[in-house]
Amino acid sequence: MCGIVGYIGKKDVKSVLLTGLKALEYRGYDSAGIALRNDEEIQIIKSVGRIKNLEEKLTKTKIIKATSGIAHTRWATHGKANETNAHPHQVGKITLVHNGIIENMDELKTRLIKKGYSFKTETDTEVVAALIDSYLNGDILKAIKKATNDITGSYALGIISETDKDHIYAIRKDSPLLLGLKADENFFASDLTALTDYTDKFIFLEEGEIAKLSSNQIVIYDSNLKPIKKEIKTIKLDEKDKGKQGYEHFMLKEIMEEPIVLEKTIKKYLENPDLLPDLSSYKQIHIVACGSAMYAGLIAKYLIEKYASIPCQAEVASEYRYKNNIYDRKTLVILISQSGETADTIAAMREAKKRGITTMAIVNVKTSTIAREADIPLFIEAGPEIAVATTKAYLLQVALISLIAFNLSKHNLKEPDKIIEDFKKVPRLVKEIIDKRENYQDIAKQIYQNENAFFIGRQIDYAICQEGSLKLKEVSYIHCEAKEAGELKHGTISLITKDMPVFGIITDENLRDKTLANIKEVESRGAKTFIITTDKLKTSENDITVKATSPFTETLEVVPILQLIAYETAKLRGCDIDKPKNLAKSVTVE
Ligand code: G6P
Repeated sequence: MCGIVGYIGKKDVKSVLLTGLKALEYRGYDSAGIALRNDEEIQIIKSVGRIKNLEEKLTKTKIIKATSGIAHTRWATHGKANETNAHPHQVGKITLVHNGIIENMDELKTRLIKKGYSFKTETDTEVVAALIDSYLNGDILKAIKKATNDITGSYALGIISETDKDHIYAIRKDSPLLLGLKADENFFASDLTALTDYTDKFIFLEEGEIAKLSSNQIVIYDSNLKPIKKEIKTIKLDEKDKGKQGYEHFMLKEIMEEPIVLEKTIKKYLENPDLLPDLSSYKQIHIVACGSAMYAGLIAKYLIEKYASIPCQAEVASEYRYKNNIYDRKTLVILISQSGETADTIAAMREAKKRGITTMAIVNVKTSTIAREADIPLFIEAGPEIAVATTKAYLLQVALISLIAFNLSKHNLKEPDKIIEDFKKVPRLVKEIIDKRENYQDIAKQIYQNENAFFIGRQIDYAICQEGSLKLKEVSYIHCEAKEAGELKHGTISLITKDMPVFGIITDENLRDKTLANIKEVESRGAKTFIITTDKLKTSENDITVKATSPFTETLEVVPILQLIAYETAKLRGCDIDKPKNLAKSVTVE
């Protein structure tokens, strides 16, 4: 949430910052700004809306010849998305950009007002700038340290001080930030995609560490301001992971990559079974995540309970972290997160660890906080995912958690080898499914003018419905609800009107006729129904079918259909598919 970039070096500072901001736009995109600095002055330029608005404004502005600068793309937390509230913020001698939330902002603001500071914006960030300025007594490092000691909350800060024209500074706590290194120039950014055009050498900042960057040196200080040595990591991005590769949207590109990344992930774990730890000693499993990742967990809950007979719950992290969770020594907590930086998921993980519970994580970004802190990190191989609405990463989360569920259930299953074969062939089946794009375009044509839709299913099919509904609502803005098919009659059915789209998902053989009966009930009330099922359970010629495989793999076939229906519908509605309104990909604040 919010993206920050900093640069010091001989290149055109504005261009480096803009390139970085464009790569970070997925983190927030309601306003943006940059601060350019040279020995004489600091120039701040901001604009509301997307980075392209800032870029346009910059072409119309007389820009100073800068030697360093900081930049920000915002997802508003405190204060409206207007130019005043856009970052960078400047107070006294301090100019800074911030990602995170300062929880004790009111208390700090009152204190600073008493000291004579006044505030122009509604943001918590301006308070941080004033706080650092208030401690500035020659030594900027000490001022940053003292100020951050006073702060409760999360922050990644990029700072320039008028007292030190040769350096830019960065610090983080509970919000991501990394440094990029190159001869005669240095960088910082919220994630490495912002810098991969310039360098493949990175240092990951830990909590509380402060980085001081000049064009030819980076010094990192620990929380006692003692210089420390840090490992430099070389990370190269694959060419195919850069840009849209000819696709109209990242979302479509990422769906089309699914067969390849699915094969890579499944192969990795099938060919190296030791990568999956033996979890048979756990008697209870809590799966904790946010958004789609939670719905991946919900699929596993049904598989683990049904086939492994282990009590398993899947919960949203923002609720879980504040609950009285009942653990015993045999509880395993599984976190699922594409970014590995989702604030609530991190908090839930830390809470469980504090209570002495083993934490396992399914993560895409290998350098992320959750990947680093979980006791057992496991990785999916999605590569960078740029569209705000997750597709390929979600599918891989489902694949890996389904493999884990299968491992836990093996001893109860009649033909485990057959299921392994299903896992092996599912990437090919997914390829066949996504190749039928015209089918989904046809469905989109039938639903795109509706303002409401429902997804119904039972058990694991209900878990799939949750993701189908979320995908459609987040990219097309059609109001959708996923409902347990049997629960529909208890109130929700009153909302069914003529021609309202209702998607019925049926992969569970035992529940086929039950769900079908519920589909018939809404049909009799005028709904336009779409049944997604397997060739084995097909109910009519109109059904959208996938190949019947095992319950551990059929979900992987159904999900791309729902993703493509959401994509095609959003396209017909003219939506901003890769950056839906009000959203951000990486939710690094509570
Ligand atoms: C945001 C994204 C979702 C994602 C969720 C959890 O809401 O838009 O696509 O599922 O965060 O993100 P994570 O990185 O933890 O998987």
